[in-house]
Order: sequence, then structure tokens, then C-alpha cells
Amino acid sequence: MKISMTLSLISCLIVSNAAKLLSRCEVANILRNEGLDGYDGYSLENWVCLTFYASKFNTTAEHKEEDGSTSYGIFQINSKEWCTNHEKHSKNRCHHICSDFQSTDLSKSIECAKKIVKEKEGLGYWYGWKENCQNSHGLKRWLYRCDE
Ligand SMILES: *[C@@H]1O[C@H](CO)[C@@H](O)[C@H](O)[C@H]1NC(C)=O
Repeated sequence: MKISMTLSLISCLIVSNAAKLLSRCEVANILRNEGLDGYDGYSLENWVCLTFYASKFNTTAEHKEEDGSTSYGIFQINSKEWCTNHEKHSKNRCHHICSDFQSTDLSKSIECAKKIVKEKEGLGYWYGWKENCQNSHGLKRWLYRCDE
């Protein structure tokens, strides 16, 4: 009895841990279904490339920034401007608790990313996109074999 409970607890931990890291094609499918392909003029490849360089497709990613704010989830949405983590005053422009952006359900993150990209910088808001995805000629590879 004890052993089987321990085993099921362990397998449960493994499953929940595995669910945090999405595959490239899983991300592509989710982002497509949530309407990001072509959103604000950016093709799906751009969005997949962006999330890779932002979070390595890790839905629970969390990084402390130099200014004391923290960035959350697959899009690394920042607490200074877009969500609140109750640490400091935040404009909280997406009206969410930051940890909402660490869910395996990406809908809240995507909804907030759609708001961020409408700012004047567009996807240029994300440093990783600017450095690695903008002007990249190999963007197609982000969708390679995703519709098989
Ligand atoms: C995902 O991010 C969390 C929080 O930063 C980290 O603890 C975890 O190790 C990361 N997972 C992987 C597989 O990189």
C-alpha cells in the first residue's frame, strides 16, 4: 500500500514536471489555434522563434531582471508593466497575477502577448526575438514537420 502510493506520487510528479516543457510543434499548434499566425503582421514562425528564445518553451520559466522585476512563462511577461506579483507597484496592464502566465494553459499568456505586441515596438519588445528571429532567413525551420 505504502509503496504503491509512493509510486503513484512519483509518477504524478514526473508527469506534472514533463508538462511544463512543451515541444516546438506543440507550441506552434497552440499559438496557431489561439490566432497568433499573422497576428499584428507576424507569421507563426516569428512567434514560435520568440517563445523559444524567451523561455525555451518552458511554461513555468521565471527570471529575475536587473531592475528587480521578474518575467514569467513562455513569453517571459514582465511584472513591472504587465502583471502583478505583489512585490512592487505594477501597472498590471494585462490584469493578471504573474503566476497565471506560468500555467500549462497558455491562453492568458497569449492574450497578454497580443496586448504587448500592439505597442509601437511590436515583437521588438522581446530582446530574444530582435536578436535571433528578426531578419532571420531560416525562420521556416520553426515549423519544420509540425503538420505531420
Ligand atoms: C523551467 O523553469 C523553471 C523556473 O525557472 C525551472 O525551475 C525549471 O528547471 C525549468 N525547466 C527546464 C526543463 O528547463
